[in-house]
Amino acid sequence: MTQGLPDITELRPEDLDALQDIEKRAYAVPWTRGNLKDSLAGDHIGLACRHEGRLAGYAFMMKVLDEMHLLNLTIDPDCQGRGWGRLLLEAVKARARALGCVRLLLEVRHGNQKAIRLYRNSGFSQIGLRRQYYPGPGGREDAIVMSSLL
Ligand SMILES: CC(C)(COP(=O)(O)OP(=O)(O)OC[C@H]1O[C@@H](n2cnc3c(N)ncnc32)[C@H](O)[C@@H]1OP(=O)(O)O)[C@@H](O)C(=O)NCCC(=O)NCCS
Repeated sequence: MTQGLPDITELRPEDLDALQDIEKRAYAVPWTRGNLKDSLAGDHIGLACRHEGRLAGYAFMMKVLDEMHLLNLTIDPDCQGRGWGRLLLEAVKARARALGCVRLLLEVRHGNQKAIRLYRNSGFSQIGLRRQYYPGPGGREDAIVMSSLL
């Protein structure tokens, strides 16, 4: 078990390779390098979870008026289950509050019980369902839309 808590800092353009590496290992249908590059280039707000100088996780979010949309929350599969996902989610909430947002919204795959459990335990509740929203290896999958007041 690795010692010490990670730091939450800003994502930087030079994180692109590490982002792509984690993204590929964490998802069956990962964001492309182009998606990640555009997000880093300023389309979205990016937070990094760094441990011992290495990228261990990240979050991308987008502010729309007084709502923050969480677009991507990922912890390196090698580092999952250590409480870092919860830590990063708390940092996302803090950043959203600091930017004047009153609500945090997200979509999650219907079958992603691990993430759904994290979100429910962090104050999110379901506000909608988008049918057949996500592509996947076994066909399309519904998205659960969740929201939390900040
Ligand atoms: C979802 C994810 C961000 C959680 O990060 P993590 O660091 O593994 O999670 P944590 O160790 O902080 O645990 C937080 C909560 O997640 C849930 N969780 C974590 N591991 C779990 C497991 N194996 N089974 C069920 N729930 C689990 C629990 O509710 C846990 O809280 P608890 O320990 O108090 O019960 C991470 O697993 C991940 O990146 N998964 C792949 C990408 C993904 O699905 N992202 C979300 C897209 S919407």
